Amino acid sequence: MAASPPVAPEPVVASGSALAFAPGKLILFGEHAVVYGHPAVALAVDRGTTVSLVAVDGPTRIVAADVEDPRLLPALCTILPSEGLGVTLRSTLPVGRGMGSSAALAVALVRAWARWQGRSLDLDEIHQAGFQVERVFHGNPSGVDHAVSARGGAVCYWRRPPGPEIRAVPVAPLPLVVLDTGRAGDTGVQVAGVASRRPGVDPLLAAIGALALAQLPALAQGDLPSLGAAMRENHRLLQGIGVSTPALDALVALALAHGALGAKLAGAGGGGVVVALVPEPGPLLAAAAAAGVDAFPVGVHPSQER
Ligand code: PMV
Repeated sequence: MAASPPVAPEPVVASGSALAFAPGKLILFGEHAVVYGHPAVALAVDRGTTVSLVAVDGPTRIVAADVEDPRLLPALCTILPSEGLGVTLRSTLPVGRGMGSSAALAVALVRAWARWQGRSLDLDEIHQAGFQVERVFHGNPSGVDHAVSARGGAVCYWRRPPGPEIRAVPVAPLPLVVLDTGRAGDTGVQVAGVASRRPGVDPLLAAIGALALAQLPALAQGDLPSLGAAMRENHRLLQGIGVSTPALDALVALALAHGALGAKLAGAGGGGVVVALVPEPGPLLAAAAAAGVDAFPVGVHPSQER
């Protein structure tokens, strides 16, 4: 990949400590297809993960975390020294729901460790180091999650040998609401399931990629009806490759019944969240609350590229 511009530095909070934030993401179009080299469009969201590091005696350890996951410490140890650091993890992302919580952890960790060392990393260095961390969570990720977490804004992403093609894409303000099934999906299981259904699902994967690419003008112009129709079509294609569930389909239906122009599962599926495009979110938020569904508006985390 070509050299990337440096990321805007955030201050090191105090001597002997360092802090960094990275956003989560929503895939607007193209999950699963992106694993096979088709384009995907993803947005960094205004929720994410903050990693802080402090000096401690003895082995590096987690001193506080919003989540419990046996993979956390092995993930931290791909980057951090084995001695001398206490790590605090705070996250405003639902975990395991397709909103990029592991990628946000990876990118925030890489940034915090670089700040601790007084180094500034370019986007490619963040991407590569973040990839190592994320591999602990997902065996063979496409890389789209940590690409958009590192860059912010919206990206169009292609997995390509020898390295990905990542394009920052302009995006108009989008009225997005996330609806959470309350159940984690397992990305590895869903990706393996799609792999097992190939080559039968290959035309659907190609159609998902073509749909993602075709939406770039509508994204830039804020053409909400076109984006909504494409989200509905993307969800239908995701159903076709076997990654939706009755709970996800029910949340898509709830959104469409309460003013959404489009809605689709976001992430690997099998659980996780639905993203809906809703110009007037009030009725949907009220209906979700009445149904006991956690729903919240999301904005886009600004691009870090300069
Ligand atoms: O981990 P999730 O739920 O955000 O899913 C990532 C998107 C996939 O395309 C299903 C997998 C990948 O590596 O791109």
